[in-house]
Amino acid sequence: MITVPVQLGSRSYPVMVGPGVRHALADVLPDGVSRAAVVTQEAVPVVVDPGVAHQRFLIGPDEGAKRLATVEDLCRGFARFGLTRADVVVAVGGGVVTDAAGFAASVYHRGVAVVHVATTLLAQVDAAIGGKTGVNLPEGKNLVGAFWQPAAVLCDTETLETLPAEEYRSGCGEMAKYHFLGMEGLDGEGLAQLSLEERVARSVAIKAEVVASDERESGRRAVLNYGHTLAHALETAGGYGLRHGEAVAVGLVFAARLAQRLGRIDEARVHDHLEVVRSYGLPEEVPPGVDPAELVTLMGRDKKATRSLTFVLDGPRGVEPVPEVAPPDVEATLKEMS
Ligand code: GLY
Repeated sequence: MITVPVQLGSRSYPVMVGPGVRHALADVLPDGVSRAAVVTQEAVPVVVDPGVAHQRFLIGPDEGAKRLATVEDLCRGFARFGLTRADVVVAVGGGVVTDAAGFAASVYHRGVAVVHVATTLLAQVDAAIGGKTGVNLPEGKNLVGAFWQPAAVLCDTETLETLPAEEYRSGCGEMAKYHFLGMEGLDGEGLAQLSLEERVARSVAIKAEVVASDERESGRRAVLNYGHTLAHALETAGGYGLRHGEAVAVGLVFAARLAQRLGRIDEARVHDHLEVVRSYGLPEEVPPGVDPAELVTLMGRDKKATRSLTFVLDGPRGVEPVPEVAPPDVEATLKEMS
């Protein structure tokens, strides 16, 4: 088992990674907890024992469950269960569960503790770490939410053994972005030499360091959205059959090509991006039928775009947010990738 600390002063917490770490749940609950609301989905095949009185709350099966109505249902259920401010919410599942349950925990009684038991690769390397919680609106993903750090995160790699292949691939899209945020030099071969536990822990450590340096995304944390501006636009436009991590992979290649068009990186660096994406067997092209103009409009609604079209792009100083990108450059890059 590997423990990675997320250093946030009095709100610091451990991320425990390894086979069977879900069984440590009772040990990581905050002191004084007497009830746990376990939020999960019907299809999540993971049973946890919080070691205190608990009740299970099921949310809907997919991304559609990430909506305000789910948060209301959960909070009403917590109230009927008698959950108090001194108790805990335990989110067991992937990013949909940790995002929705984390947000419900952040607003119920103006904030109760939450522990995430992340059961998908995507949640283990990204969604469950760092305190971003929230739900979608029809107008866009994650437009309503809160920063609410968990008390602990358990990344049980045993739960990945039964994960459907496409879910695992989706998590690989998030892992791919870390190759440009600190996992540089780790090609397919180097990566294959690491155990799954080590790969997850390395991704978590990179994220933990970035979050510790900029918890509320006033600057540097935006690098964690590398590849996400296009990914979110593709998802808002209907998904085009791509899972989140697959959309991120396309977004990484798009970001590299856009950075090259803007003179920030050379062809060899674009090739590095393609190599990483290919090593995970992820898609690299914009799917057919995409309307570049629609995507540019959707990308303008991204939370990073406070004044102008902003992208997270690679460059001489590494990956960083780049404001005021001209829409014609974006459209031309999308057309080149279609
Ligand atoms: N998923 C990006 C972040 O946590 O900041």
